[in-house]
Amino acid sequence: MAMLNTEEINHIRSSVNIVDVISTYLPLTQRGKNYFGVCPFHDDHSPSMSVSKDRQIYKCFSCGATGNVFTFLMDYEHITFLEAIKKVADLAGIPIQVGIPTKTQNKNLEVLYEIYDFASKYYQNHIHTSMGKEAKEYLEKRKIDASVIKEFGIGLSPNDNNVLTNLLLEKKYSNKDLIRSGLIAKNEYGLHDIYKNRIMFPLWDLNGNIVGFSGRVFHGEKESKYINTMETEIFHKGDLIYNYHRAKDSARNENTILIMEGFMDVIRASTIGIHNVVAMMGTAVTKNQANLIKRMAKNIILCFDGDEAGAKATYSCGNELLELGITPKVIRLEENLDPDEYIQKYGKERFLEKIQNPINIMDFKLSYLKKNMDLTSSVDLANYVNHSILELSKIEDDVLREISLKKISEESHLEIDFLKERLKQLPKKKVEPKKKEKKVSKNKYELAETYLLFYMLRDVKVIQMYQESGVYFPTEKYRLFGRLISAYYRENESIDVADFISFIEGDEASLSVLKELNALSLKEQFEKEEIEDYIHTLKEQNIDAEIQRLQEKMKQTDNQKEKVTFAQKIVEWNLKKRREEYDK
Ligand code: CTP
Ligand code: MN
Repeated sequence: MAMLNTEEINHIRSSVNIVDVISTYLPLTQRGKNYFGVCPFHDDHSPSMSVSKDRQIYKCFSCGATGNVFTFLMDYEHITFLEAIKKVADLAGIPIQVGIPTKTQNKNLEVLYEIYDFASKYYQNHIHTSMGKEAKEYLEKRKIDASVIKEFGIGLSPNDNNVLTNLLLEKKYSNKDLIRSGLIAKNEYGLHDIYKNRIMFPLWDLNGNIVGFSGRVFHGEKESKYINTMETEIFHKGDLIYNYHRAKDSARNENTILIMEGFMDVIRASTIGIHNVVAMMGTAVTKNQANLIKRMAKNIILCFDGDEAGAKATYSCGNELLELGITPKVIRLEENLDPDEYIQKYGKERFLEKIQNPINIMDFKLSYLKKNMDLTSSVDLANYVNHSILELSKIEDDVLREISLKKISEESHLEIDFLKERLKQLPKKKVEPKKKEKKVSKNKYELAETYLLFYMLRDVKVIQMYQESGVYFPTEKYRLFGRLISAYYRENESIDVADFISFIEGDEASLSVLKELNALSLKEQFEKEEIEDYIHTLKEQNIDAEIQRLQEKMKQTDNQKEKVTFAQKIVEWNLKKRREEYDK
């Protein structure tokens, strides 16, 4: 941060409105003076995050997350303070000259991103050489034209063992970095390329940096169809979602995100103008991925392959999302087709119609459970009812639950009350325990400390009163926090919480005090007398503490003279205490 001073940082911060910035990430609705949205920093279902336009901060009433526009971006995008400043500066159109590393401050990883950039450029170039003829023909056959090749950065790895290896070595990358990258391996003959003669699809991280590839065979499908980059320091498959960085905006605009199985499906969808679509890349969805999806849009539609495997994936991905309190919708494609094939066979219009009419997840599950069952047989029927009640217990949406109960009742000719009773007997849907901060009740001094700090953050008059009183915060974390406010005030001669948050950037202890203060439900207005009360209370504590300290000392010494001095001091302090009480 060496090259940007506080003033510049504050200038950048105040050039944007936090409400505008946050609303590009999540929908906010205005209620009174503040804006509210679903907090992205914990498992939230209702809008518990408030964003204040006046104070340019956000805070979540549920998990306590709080901060300014920089900390929001840092936590949301998983970026550093510097990167957040750069982002905001870009939004505000403020040029900043200092070289801010955009991907990571870790030089160590920068090398890997560079290698991927280089490899990707090389592969993309290679597909357009004479060596790429066959690959391009293959893509053409699959209706992937030049513009799509360009848009998705599709390339070709050479039909050779060490072209990329040699190019990278020429660029002076070390053997170690080449191996770390996951693109190069070592055998008894030395280093060699991992990808040989495959069509290369770049895989991006959430910020759009290339961090891996999926390489597809294109003549004969005997070997494994796709080879994905192995896990590296920058490639964690379980944390990624294909096309996330490109789909984000349009998902937000449409308030809908489509989830498919394969990246070819995503690519196909984009050719017919559907951009709010991502792929899970053939793996079971992780908690992490489900959480990311949840943040993308309110309406989530699973559009997996039409075959049995696709149905299974719909089932399990659906459950993963239900666990997070999301009720996804489902699209099932006929004839075992995947979205890519479906769009090619039936065209844009029919596919659009399909995605405009998704079914609810319970209907999907019921028809899946019914498959290959004979509901006239009481064994099958009992099986079906038991299973569907079990699935129903995972549904949070009570309207959907009621509707589905009715359906099951009609199908099974069982009384709805009986089914409800069964449902009640099942363990309630597992709700993730919220990480509540341990609520230890505060003693009166701690209350006075936090109340005083709360108002110091709001009004310079309170800071002045605190400074003039010479009062001392007994609790260390509050004492430090109070000092920080004083220091900020000395520097700026004003108090502005949003700026103050930048001021304490990186100081975890102070940020957690700030959280604590924000969680206090105090009114914004205050009377001078209230502040005086807090100060008095603390003074009282300060005096008691001093008296106690002197008493300890007096006990410890054997020197009579010293004992007398301590005793006198204790008397003085007791007098002071009386005076304080009298002043009240
Ligand atoms: N996949 C993989 N390895 C395989 C097969 C599939 O990693 N051997 C992953 C890929 O990420 C792929 C996804 O699983 O995108 C879905 O697989 P599949 O449905 O077989 O892929 P398609 O999108 O149909 O690919 P293609 O049309 O090229 O056959
Ligand atoms: Mn396919």
